[in-house]
Order: sequence, then structure tokens, then C-alpha cells
Amino acid sequence: MTSSATIIDRTANHVRTVLSGDGTGHDWWHVYRVWKMAQRIGQAEKADLFVVELAALLHDIADWKLHDGDSTVGSKIARDWLDSLDAHISEHVCQIIANISFKGAKVESPTLSQEGKVVQDADRLDAMGAIGIARAFAYGGAKGQAIYDPACKPTEHGTAEAYLKGGTTINHFCEKLLLLRDRMNTATGRAMAEARHQFMEDYLRRFYEEWEGG
Ligand code: ADP
Ligand code: NI
Repeated sequence: MTSSATIIDRTANHVRTVLSGDGTGHDWWHVYRVWKMAQRIGQAEKADLFVVELAALLHDIADWKLHDGDSTVGSKIARDWLDSLDAHISEHVCQIIANISFKGAKVESPTLSQEGKVVQDADRLDAMGAIGIARAFAYGGAKGQAIYDPACKPTEHGTAEAYLKGGTTINHFCEKLLLLRDRMNTATGRAMAEARHQFMEDYLRRFYEEWEGG
């Protein structure tokens, strides 16, 4: 039987190859950061690190947003990969991958296992703070979205379809990024989210000031 360390190693190499060069915010380095953050939170929260690491590594292997909103594609690809390695935790890992994505302010999030909560917190932390701001503008640029339009008001999306349509990148802060702090699952994640949230608030304050010639 293949050892856990070998399975993680092979998975990291595989994901790096598949995702390198992505310009929509789902590049290998996003996965790398989520992996490291999930290890850190998982350790503090005493979660099963093998499951946490594999789910973190495979969580964006196929983005549901790029597959007509189908969130089962990623977990299918992950399952094939894990089965090829004979990794016995495949079911749990795929369950996490299928359920961690943010799909709109008013779209209810499925119940997650402790390991799922850890990976979701790590993924969400990477959407916040300095890196989160960079990723939002990278995503907006890739989609051809406006940076900001004062006439376009943010909305609390009630369905994944509406959320997918997007708006301006500044609206994305109200529609997702500023909501994350109060939706963290773990005490460790919550503590880390605070400074990143404050940084985004400061950033937006400056942004609106400069918009008006300040
Ligand atoms: P994650 O990898 O955290 O699950 P997503 O797959 O939802 O994030 O999106 C990738 C990145 O792009 C995230 O940083 C997210 O906040 C950002 N993003 C998603 N939708 C938009 C949007 N409409 N405008 C700007 N940024 C967005
Ligand atoms: Ni992600």
C-alpha cells in the first residue's frame, strides 16, 4: 500500500502540473497557499491531516464556475485521481471538494465535516486580505468585469446562477469577501480572518476616497 506521504507528494506534483499557468485566480500558488494554511489550521483544530491536505490540494482541480455551475466535475476528477493511487479516503475528500465553494450570500452552505471546515476556512482566507484583493482583481480582469461602477449596486445573491453572472469587482467585496469573516468555521480561522478583514475595509475606504479625487 502506498504511504500517506507519497500520496500527498504525488498529488501535489499532479495538481501543480494541471493548474500551472491559470490566470483566473486558480493557479497552483492559490492551491499551495490553501494547502499550507489548511495544514496550519488542521493541526490547531486536531483534524485528520491526510484528508485535509488531499482536499486542499484537489479542491480547485476543476472549478464549478468554469463548468456551467456543475460542482460535481471537480470531485469526479479528484475521485479518479485518488482511486488511481488507491487512496482509501477518496469518498471523504470528494465530499469536501463538492461542498466547500461559496455560491452566493444567501445560498445555504452544506454541512461539512471537521476536515471540510478546515479546508473551507483556508480557502476563504485566501480570498481575503492583500492576496484576496489581488485575486479578485485578477478574476475580474480575466472576466472583463469593470473595476467599479457607482451606478451598479451590490446584491445578496440568492442563487448560484445569479452569483455566477458577476458584476463589478468592488461589488464582489460586499457580495462575498466582507461576509467571510463572520462565516468562518473554526476558532483558528476566525482569529486569522480578523486582520485580513480589517485590511480589506481599509483598502475600500481608500478606494472610495481616491475615486472622488481624495
Ligand atoms: P475560491 O478559490 O476561494 O473558492 P472562487 O472559486 O469563488 O474562490 O473564485 C476565485 C477567486 O476569484 C476568489 O478570490 C474570489 O473571491 C474571486 N472572485 C470570484 N467571483 C468574483 C467576481 N465576480 N468578481 C471578482 N472576483 C471574484
Ligand atoms: Ni480555492
